[in-house]
Amino acid sequence: MWSPSLDTIDALKHRAILNALRTDIGDGRLRLGDRLPAARVLATKLGVAVGTVARAYREAAADGLIQSEVGRGTHVLGNAPRRVAEPAFGARSNGLIDLSIDYPLQLLDPDPGPVLDRLARRTDRMELMRYVASEGSPRARVAGVAWAKRYDLAGRAIEAVVLCGGNQHALTVSLACVFGGRGGRIFSEALTYPGFKDATGLFGLQPEPIALDDQGMIPEALDEACREFPLDVPSAVYVVPSLQNPTTAAMSIKRREALARVIERHGLFVIEDDVHRLHADEPGAPIAALVPDKTFFIAGLSKVVSAGLRIAYLFPPRALVNATVRCVLATQWSVPPLMAEIAAEWIDDGTADAVREAKGKEAAERQRIAAELLKNSGTLRSQTQSFYLWLDLPEGWTGDSFALAAARRGIGVLSDSSFRISNDAGERRGARICVAAANSREELRTALTSIATVLEHPPGFSERIV
Ligand SMILES: Cc1ncc(COP(=O)(O)O)c(C=O)c1O
Repeated sequence: MWSPSLDTIDALKHRAILNALRTDIGDGRLRLGDRLPAARVLATKLGVAVGTVARAYREAAADGLIQSEVGRGTHVLGNAPRRVAEPAFGARSNGLIDLSIDYPLQLLDPDPGPVLDRLARRTDRMELMRYVASEGSPRARVAGVAWAKRYDLAGRAIEAVVLCGGNQHALTVSLACVFGGRGGRIFSEALTYPGFKDATGLFGLQPEPIALDDQGMIPEALDEACREFPLDVPSAVYVVPSLQNPTTAAMSIKRREALARVIERHGLFVIEDDVHRLHADEPGAPIAALVPDKTFFIAGLSKVVSAGLRIAYLFPPRALVNATVRCVLATQWSVPPLMAEIAAEWIDDGTADAVREAKGKEAAERQRIAAELLKNSGTLRSQTQSFYLWLDLPEGWTGDSFALAAARRGIGVLSDSSFRISNDAGERRGARICVAAANSREELRTALTSIATVLEHPPGFSERIV
């Protein structure tokens, strides 16, 4: 007779029985067709009410695990709960190959199975389902400091790191810390990550565009803008220095130093979003290392390990750590401790580094494919392991006319207008193509071959935006 081990103590006894059923079916101790004891018999054995067992059986039946039939008793049906199949976020429909979103080679994401198994056996596992301090648990912060070493941010104290729910959350928290309730002035690269625009909108800020070239933000342009606007209000600059999104520009060390001088001269705060740094060719010292007392440095795991973890480690200026923690508290109390723990495990056991390397190699192969297929299609800007490339379009095209023509052939890309923070943000005509978003190299080849064909002929009337 099946006799569940209820060592997975659950405050609700029917749920403990249900969990034991799931585990035993999953582990093969119970097989298809096995007969389960009658509810009354099991209840006596376990010393619980008959209704408790009956409820567990009802819920197991609703999950498709077992089946009860009058006269035949209760039998095991399957080895997995029935699930409603839902399309994943970003799943393709209508044959569209969507290279418009910076999906980080999700097919190479680590399988959470082994780490979840390990966590399931840990005696302290219930701690992972409870409130933790808003800055994150000590163990999660230790992992953050270890991770930061990969970003050339060595020697940071455990107290210097604040856990956030991904880079986007860290960015919003940093903005809240500088501007919340006060307003002020924020500068950024003229073409930038669209989520930045969304976040500044929450604080009623209108970012000022700063010109950029193939080394990213131009320090003299920032200097000029700082002189033009009165900075008697909270002021900051948002910068993506290592692998700029969308242009893939890379800041040299000289450029970083020149920018740091301007930042110091004008007393700006810096929000340094280095989300792609670990796949950049030769990232120089972080600006956070040059202007530590002013910089919020964001090192997130979404692009390097797995986007669904929603974990980023934020290093605010030392004097603002407590204020930053309050902003995390105000926005989501803390990141889910279970996810922070998975991240810590993956950093400790080498999974994070292995996945980073595998994704880097795959991205490099995809960049080679793009260089070959788009060699006559305008000027490509990229770095060896970049997840996307920027295409400066040939004569006759605008970013929008190109994106429209590509969409008509079933390929999604984003034009410069998606990244502009204002209409007068320069003349650059181009588009971002996310090579890492394709489901396979084959799919990427198909998409890029189509794009090359599109670009063979300047747009006809029907492809102009009117
Ligand atoms: C520059 C930049 N910052 C932030 C993000 C968002 O990262 P996360 O998924 O960790 O919130 C992205 C995503 O594409 C990005 O490119």
